[in-house]
Amino acid sequence: MEPRDIDGDLTEILIEEEQIRDRLAELSRRIEDDYAGKDLLLVGVLKGAVMVMADLARELKHPIAMDWMAVSSYGSGTASSGVVRILKDLDTDLTGRHVLIVEDIIDSGLTLSWLLANLNSRGPASVEICALLRKPEAARVEIDVKYVGFEIPNQFVVGYGLDYAEKYRNLRSVGVLASHVYAPVEPATA
Ligand code: XMP
Ligand code: MG
Repeated sequence: MEPRDIDGDLTEILIEEEQIRDRLAELSRRIEDDYAGKDLLLVGVLKGAVMVMADLARELKHPIAMDWMAVSSYGSGTASSGVVRILKDLDTDLTGRHVLIVEDIIDSGLTLSWLLANLNSRGPASVEICALLRKPEAARVEIDVKYVGFEIPNQFVVGYGLDYAEKYRNLRSVGVLASHVYAPVEPATA
């Protein structure tokens, strides 16, 4: 098979690499102000948040700690059910810690609302959320997200950590996947 250029699988680039970089720089200035003099723990949600975490963390000028969680949402197909299972828990004791959850995207909000309750039950000093993307039209629960990169339309997006069937995470921008990728055109039969 011919290697394909990743951009050929997109109908549209929604957010360019430079826009992401600039926005994360802005958010990190706010985070530094808000957590001045406090010991901050960033909690990244695997695997989608890997790129946001790496770039956001390196914008921060103070020494911070990072830890990771992997969760999976029970439910059929792509719809989130809100019932979450922990695949990999934190190594860090959250007692008295200032926690900032770093997420790639908030869709229905069900996963994050569960995660928020779960982390809050561990005795932290505070828990806030930073998400690169949010789809306001898809929200099924209200969650207070302190830092949001971009609000996007209710479309399936890939890139900058976000995948389709585990691919496209390495795309530097965020784009909308072309339908030929997930619904290949059947050859016409005579
Ligand atoms: P909920 O609905 O619980 O789900 O907020 C959030 C998780 O669903 C995944 N998700 C996406 N992944 N493109 C993706 O690659 C998308 O457009 C998309 N929308 C939701 C993602 O794992 C997120 O953490
Ligand atoms: Mg995710």
